[in-house]
Amino acid sequence: MQRDNNKHGIESNLLPRRDFLAAAGAATVGISPTITEANRTPVATATTDVESTQGITSPNGTVRVTFELRDGQPRYSLSFEGATLVEPSPLGFEFRDADSLDDGFEIAGVRRREENTTWEPVWGETAEVRNRYRELVVGLVESASPSRSLTLIFRAYDDGAAFRYVLPEQENFGDFIITDEKTGFRFAGDYTSWWTPDNWENYEYLYEETPLSEISTSSSVGLSDVDAANTPVTMKVDDERYMCVHEAALTDYAAMTLARDGDHATRFESALVPWPDGAKVKAETPHASPWRTFTLGSTPGDLVESKLVLNLNEPNEIEDTSWIDPGKYVGIWWEIHIGKSTWASGPDVGATTANAKRYIDFASEHGIESLLVEGWNVGWDGGFDAWSNPPYLFDFTESIAQYDLEEVVEYGRSKDPSVGITIHNETGGGVGNYIEQLEEAYQYYEELGIHSAKLGYVSEDGLLIDGTVYHHHGQRMVNHYRWVTKKAAEHEIMLDVHEPIKPTGVRRTWPNLLTREGASGLEYENFRPQGNPPSHTLVLPFTRLIGGPFDYTPGIFDVTYEEYGETRVHSTRARQLALYPIIFSGLQMVADLPEKYDDLTEFEFIENVPATWDETTVVQGKIGRYLTIARRKGEEWYVGSGTDDRPRRLNVPLDFLDDGRPYVATIYSDGEDADFETNPTSVAIDEVIVTSEETLVASMVEGGGQAIRLRPAKGEQRAIRRYEPPTYSHDTFTIQDEVTASDPVVATIEATNEGNVVGGEELHLFVDGEPVETRLARVPGGGEEQIDFPVTVTEVGEHEVAVGHAPGDVIASETVEVTPKSAEFGWLAFDGFDAPETATTGEPIEIAGTVTNTGGDETIQILKLTVDGRVVATKKVDLEPDEGATVTFEHAFESGGTFELALEGLGPWSITVTPGSEEFDSELG
Ligand code: NOJ
Ligand code: CA
Repeated sequence: MQRDNNKHGIESNLLPRRDFLAAAGAATVGISPTITEANRTPVATATTDVESTQGITSPNGTVRVTFELRDGQPRYSLSFEGATLVEPSPLGFEFRDADSLDDGFEIAGVRRREENTTWEPVWGETAEVRNRYRELVVGLVESASPSRSLTLIFRAYDDGAAFRYVLPEQENFGDFIITDEKTGFRFAGDYTSWWTPDNWENYEYLYEETPLSEISTSSSVGLSDVDAANTPVTMKVDDERYMCVHEAALTDYAAMTLARDGDHATRFESALVPWPDGAKVKAETPHASPWRTFTLGSTPGDLVESKLVLNLNEPNEIEDTSWIDPGKYVGIWWEIHIGKSTWASGPDVGATTANAKRYIDFASEHGIESLLVEGWNVGWDGGFDAWSNPPYLFDFTESIAQYDLEEVVEYGRSKDPSVGITIHNETGGGVGNYIEQLEEAYQYYEELGIHSAKLGYVSEDGLLIDGTVYHHHGQRMVNHYRWVTKKAAEHEIMLDVHEPIKPTGVRRTWPNLLTREGASGLEYENFRPQGNPPSHTLVLPFTRLIGGPFDYTPGIFDVTYEEYGETRVHSTRARQLALYPIIFSGLQMVADLPEKYDDLTEFEFIENVPATWDETTVVQGKIGRYLTIARRKGEEWYVGSGTDDRPRRLNVPLDFLDDGRPYVATIYSDGEDADFETNPTSVAIDEVIVTSEETLVASMVEGGGQAIRLRPAKGEQRAIRRYEPPTYSHDTFTIQDEVTASDPVVATIEATNEGNVVGGEELHLFVDGEPVETRLARVPGGGEEQIDFPVTVTEVGEHEVAVGHAPGDVIASETVEVTPKSAEFGWLAFDGFDAPETATTGEPIEIAGTVTNTGGDETIQILKLTVDGRVVATKKVDLEPDEGATVTFEHAFESGGTFELALEGLGPWSITVTPGSEEFDSELG
């Protein structure tokens, strides 16, 4: 691969790219894009006329891609299950110093082929992958001089579609600089979408959930003045169609973002992350773009199970894979993040030989494969501002005085089972400094027998190589990340890359790429009070993880870490367990401090759970709301369920188990007394016998979860008690006979659970047939509990109050007489309360003002906000004479329409509610 770099005056930028191409020798597979022999040259000109519209349909007929040439312009469109998802959208390129290649074409010829094979990943979510698709290759040629050729390759799989551009080898087109890729994404509807902004340095955001038309990003990240998102972007088309737009095999090219096309609400176009000089891609023919991918499914879970992105990558390049061994690791890491110790080499440094040995003892005792030690090497002093800015002083072979790498490695090796070292290489953005030392450092690690490394590229301002600053997601860095992967493979090192390029399935080609960051990981629980809300890890599997594994770093048991923290982890402990099956990672962290796991039976789940799998199935899921994933390794299954900020019961049918075979299920649930705020660490552990016939109940508190280990019952285990599903009976429904309109009605029912695990029964309170309150009754197995429903009924008269599962499925009902409210309200003065005239479903409105006690005595009152006479919110005020209080009511409407709002004597205010994106969540009433 030779070229005249001076032609574009860009040699210093091209040099590093050429270097690794040369280093890779003839076998550049997986380093530069692989182009089949047939596609390296222009498609031969057909002897007969070729139709200007060409389509391919997936083997099962559900996915269809259509190509058409209209007035010389190429277009593609996409349909799924009979509905158009992408309307005809443009294709092409703009170049520096050359005419654009998006118009004036003729079809030279087309080719079709299909494939139906299976392959075995070195490791993954499944033991086998089916690769079955139909392919259409369209050769285009400019009708006028210089008659350049462009080839488009389309594929239709049953789980999605993809296409890529090939710029074939040709006389009139050699070196080129792409200044713009003109791929359009003209979505056929304003789909609800899950997205993060198009930051070019960083993917560490919470996902937004908005219609496509509301994708909007600030100019401080990525493209200024244009709304854009990094991929993957996941969309809900309708109840039966989900789509994830991303790219596969991102190789020697710039990462793609989706940028709004002018004022069009649902039209987007590819926007590539630039080089410092504004170029997007610098290469020579033959060259290929990454695949532009559309993962498709009828349920959100189909997206998770899809193998589209992996299938579009090249086969494994590493011959001897015996050293590639996915597993778990502990780290001198969280203790630094929460402030127990430091990276800097002062008196509190975490990286001491003694501390590392302590972690190794713990890891060996629990069968955890390796230990990460951050701050082990020279260069961390002076704090973040120092190490993440020039001059970069990180030395990748020299231990600090308090730490002896060789002694620690030897200590880990001496244990039985042994514990390896996951070496840490933080660049702080000084990538040039890293490149200079890399060969020597990797050689040293190899000599020490180190087989894994965590890399870091922390820098908000780009990355410095030879005096030039590059974006994380541009072509130069895409190439750097790949070069490092290949170098690591040469030295038998598995990688966990933080601040990486996004995953695009390259792990198929380079299976030493065990995991990476590239999303808001658990560290954000400590970085910001809001942390990662419980919904975050219920969005990730449907978005970021469509690209590939994520080093989320789960496993925090001390979720409130009051000893050190100012914030908390936004989940219960049972949910932390459930994250192991939920979030796939070839290297899976056991993130808490060893002392936090001491003698806790629930730690057994983490000890046992594998990092990679033979089979994966999504039992159920609603993006950002709830999820159950089941994964098998050998004969054992591991199941994780989670809920957002709503207490929830999910049914988990075990039909994935071998028919009729008894399994021991060890079930780790939120304890009977668990509560997100007050008792998040309570875990109930039940061991029962189940079969594939059973449906387990996952009963979860806010931010909660459930983890299950299932293994075939052997010998004496068969005598373990059988699972008895929660069944409920109810007794003694009580309410007051008579209340004043200003007092709450308190309805109480006793519920008994006759099963042998904690139950999750949704009970609703109905007033005159209308549901007014819901409780998830979590009654322990064999236990009894009193469930209270305090509600307020303002309308004077007789009311029927009932508790039950549905208006037609009532358990008990009573009548209550509401008498006029007490005169005491006369003492209260209301000021400033007003209601908005419009609202959107699902988005809470606020009504706020002050209430002052004008009477001569203390008064305790319940204030009620009503919608069409029904109480929707209450606030208690307790005021001394002359005392005032600010009171804020919040209410979110579930359906559209016009309603009358009233607050005690104030109002009524008329409000018009329009439907938002969020439909009524029927699972929990
Ligand atoms: C950010 C990484 O995500 C984190 O895991 C690491 O501890 C710090 N950088 C320091 O390298
Ligand atoms: Ca990070």
